[in-house]
Amino acid sequence: MKFYVTTPIYYVNDAPHIGHAYTTILADVLSRYHRTVGDNVFFLTGLDEHGQKVKQAAEKRGMTPQAHCDDLAPRFTNLWTKLDIRYDDFVRTTQERHTKIVQACLQKVYDSGDIYADEYEGWYSVAEERFITDTEYESGQFRDVKKLKEKNYFFKMSKYQEQLINHIQANPGFIQPEHRKNEILGFLRQPLGDLCISRPKSRMDWGIEIPFDRDYVTYVWFDALINYISIPGYLSDDTKFKTWWPADVHLIGKDILTTHCVYWTTMLFALGLPQPKTIFAHGWWLLGDSKMSKSLGNVVNPLDLIEQYGVDGVRYFLMREMVLGQDANFTTDSFIKSFNSDLANDYGNLLNRVSGLIAKNHGGVVPNPGTATDAEKDIEQKANALPAQIKELIAQYKVQEAVVAVIEFVRVLNKYVEVQAPWKLAKTDLPAAERVLYTAAEGLRMATIMLAPVMPYKTAVVLDVLGAKETKPVWGQIKPGTVLQSHPPLFPRIDVEKK
Ligand code: MSP
Repeated sequence: MKFYVTTPIYYVNDAPHIGHAYTTILADVLSRYHRTVGDNVFFLTGLDEHGQKVKQAAEKRGMTPQAHCDDLAPRFTNLWTKLDIRYDDFVRTTQERHTKIVQACLQKVYDSGDIYADEYEGWYSVAEERFITDTEYESGQFRDVKKLKEKNYFFKMSKYQEQLINHIQANPGFIQPEHRKNEILGFLRQPLGDLCISRPKSRMDWGIEIPFDRDYVTYVWFDALINYISIPGYLSDDTKFKTWWPADVHLIGKDILTTHCVYWTTMLFALGLPQPKTIFAHGWWLLGDSKMSKSLGNVVNPLDLIEQYGVDGVRYFLMREMVLGQDANFTTDSFIKSFNSDLANDYGNLLNRVSGLIAKNHGGVVPNPGTATDAEKDIEQKANALPAQIKELIAQYKVQEAVVAVIEFVRVLNKYVEVQAPWKLAKTDLPAAERVLYTAAEGLRMATIMLAPVMPYKTAVVLDVLGAKETKPVWGQIKPGTVLQSHPPLFPRIDVEKK
């Protein structure tokens, strides 16, 4: 099986915050999961580098737009390295491998008659550098407004309205979650207009030149969306393209739902290409009541969090906290609570108990499982059911539920150890103590494999301690006699008093 996953390509001007980090970690978790079950994965992310804002920002710094982009791009790539993101390719829309395919797509759609030139007359705000609507004009809130008549190129989006509605209705998993699908179907109840896809160079020249009219560049979305096909080889490498397209999932935030579900899908129809299997829109990370965004100045910098709490804690929290499709609120309080409860008290503590007791009472060597009683059979059965349960949840993009399911299992294991009290059994019934510790270690190993896509670093430490690096998620893989490695506490509790 193959799995092709994309994130939005982020505007190069923005400093990445946890909203951007969230989508990218989510894509990474899904990719890692699919790799562990043996799928062939292609994970694409990157940067959106054209447009007015980039041009202005570069001018302010006295740089060329390209030099400005080159200077800013490492802010993203460095963060992805720190967050342990393993993408397979990183696109920058100024790369020739992308620009030439955008031009080829424009030519193709133009030749088939779906792009036409038209004069557009409307109110143009010089300050905003865009056409404003009549309502906006009447609001009187815009300065330097003039009537402007301008030739532009339009994409016949309206032509594909029926086809799009039919596609959405015939493919229930196409737009997820369900309420986003309904939002798009509601939007499509109104007649769909055509999409202006050009800007005259005289007004804005930082973009990809339109091949059939050198006085124009293409509008950012027609440029940016094409990255999803230009990078896996559309019109340049047939074998590669056939391997990956259609994408299995475009992960996006709900802010860019229409551009993906309407602009992109109709562009694909015009190019005669199959649709992605799923477009999944997650909610927003909020700080207080508003969306975290640079313009509001209410962003949480992921680098600060990583520095304070470690990369695995950050990845865990973001995946554990946001129910996919809904908004989530970021507070330091909830971060610390989830860290201390799930990671320090439950997961970290289970490792401490297992390795500590085995070191103290069993010479640091994994004991024999002996003969299972009902209690062990119950744990074994729960552990063996876990991989299928996680598979099902991941297939439905229920990552939060999947993480919770594993942590619940860790709690079951802790409870089992408490009830069995192997530290007491060691004095009265050694084989029973051995049985309990073997079972707890093996359960911990299974849970760890299931958590590995979320916390690649710490789970590797645990598997190392257990001498179980290359093992599979089926019961009974730890070999009795394995010498356990010593380790520092996995997730030391965050001391709230000190914060
Ligand atoms: N460049 C366009 C996307 C082009 S895709 C072909 C763009 N870039 S962006 O830098 O604004 O990034 C938008 C994406 O960042 C969102 O769709 C979402 O994935 C992520 N997030 C940015 N802020 C966010 C939150 N506060 N919360 C969650 N995710 C958000 O739009």
